[in-house]
Amino acid sequence: MEKIRVDLGEHSYDICIGSGLLRAGKVLREKILGRRVFVVSNQVVADHYLDSVLHQLEGLDTDVHLMPDGEQFKTLQTLESIIGDLLAKGHNRSTTIVALGGGVVGDTAGYAAASYQRGVPFVQVPTTLLSQVDSSVGGKTAVNHELGKNMIGAFYQPKGVYVDTDTLQTLPERELSAGLAEIIKHGVLADSDYFDVVEKDIGQLRQKDESALIRAIKGSCKIKAAVVAQDERESGKRALLNFGHTFAHAIETGMGYGQWLHGEAVGAGMVMAADLSARLGRCSLDDSQRIKTLVERAGLPTAGPLEVSTDAMLAFMAKDKKATDEGLRFVLIEGGIGKTEIVQDVPVSVLRETLEAGLRLCE
Ligand code: NAD
Ligand code: GLY
Repeated sequence: MEKIRVDLGEHSYDICIGSGLLRAGKVLREKILGRRVFVVSNQVVADHYLDSVLHQLEGLDTDVHLMPDGEQFKTLQTLESIIGDLLAKGHNRSTTIVALGGGVVGDTAGYAAASYQRGVPFVQVPTTLLSQVDSSVGGKTAVNHELGKNMIGAFYQPKGVYVDTDTLQTLPERELSAGLAEIIKHGVLADSDYFDVVEKDIGQLRQKDESALIRAIKGSCKIKAAVVAQDERESGKRALLNFGHTFAHAIETGMGYGQWLHGEAVGAGMVMAADLSARLGRCSLDDSQRIKTLVERAGLPTAGPLEVSTDAMLAFMAKDKKATDEGLRFVLIEGGIGKTEIVQDVPVSVLRETLEAGLRLCE
């Protein structure tokens, strides 16, 4: 088992990564201090992994809450149902909430943990590649509002994250590719050596090769942990984790949530962000082409949907939560793969060229 520390003072914790972690020993027990546990999952994940988790928790008083599956259920209504179940079953502040599932379960259960009786301990057991390399790490928890994604939430760190890479064997191919988008993102934003490794391993990653997966997950978690340790609440450097996301959110909003997976929109968004960086002379055409090729090899779209026009994309971007009073902000490459910075003064004419090229690519 590999451990990566997320260094946040008294809120520090380890990300434990290994193959067969859920079947080996009782690793989850180490982070559960009280006698009571409340597992949040969904039916799809529970069918595969709930028994292993319950085995880990043997001897404790454990309740299970299955929320409906899908981004459309990352809502206040689901949160209320979780809180209602916690209350009905008499859970108090010494209960630990365990989130077993992808980012939807993790974000929702995490926010339930942050808000139930002003905060109870929680543990993440992420089961999608995206949640193992991104959403379970760093303490962003949230549910969606009909007017915006992740608009109701809190920064609330877990006590531990347990990544069993074997869970990826049941993950659909499309979801695996969505996770690869965030892995590529981490290489582009902070570490060119890691990008090289992912480029070399991409075929094995798509084949779910165990050692390639562990290498990629470990590398990504290290990068994310380092960024979060420097800027837990996104007042500066953490915003770099949004590379490609300004474009991606506009694609998701334009298409309606649920049409494109988040990771798919991030794939196309990263190609556009790299293209914009090259147009502004911040990176070479070779770099932007390398990113596009890797996104394509990961099984992700390299262009936005034609259904969303350039004007619509511009309008959605203007409304994006990352927009500031000074105008739109982009995370752009600065000098080469592995170095990024936040840029605020992007000329609209160049942005328009990028969007037109990015949307035309799919014709
Ligand atoms: P998801 O949670 O919807 O999971 C994708 C699908 O895979 C679901 O149908 C799920 O039931 C299924 N599934 C999960 N594990 C499985 C397994 N091992 N085998 C078979 N099927 C499995 O999607 P996701 O991509 O994990 O997460 C997306 C969410 O994460 C979004 O809501 C996004 O906003 C959020 N997110 C949060 C952060 C953060 O920092 N908190 C970062 C990135 C994304
Ligand atoms: N996924 C972006 C962040 O955690 O900040």
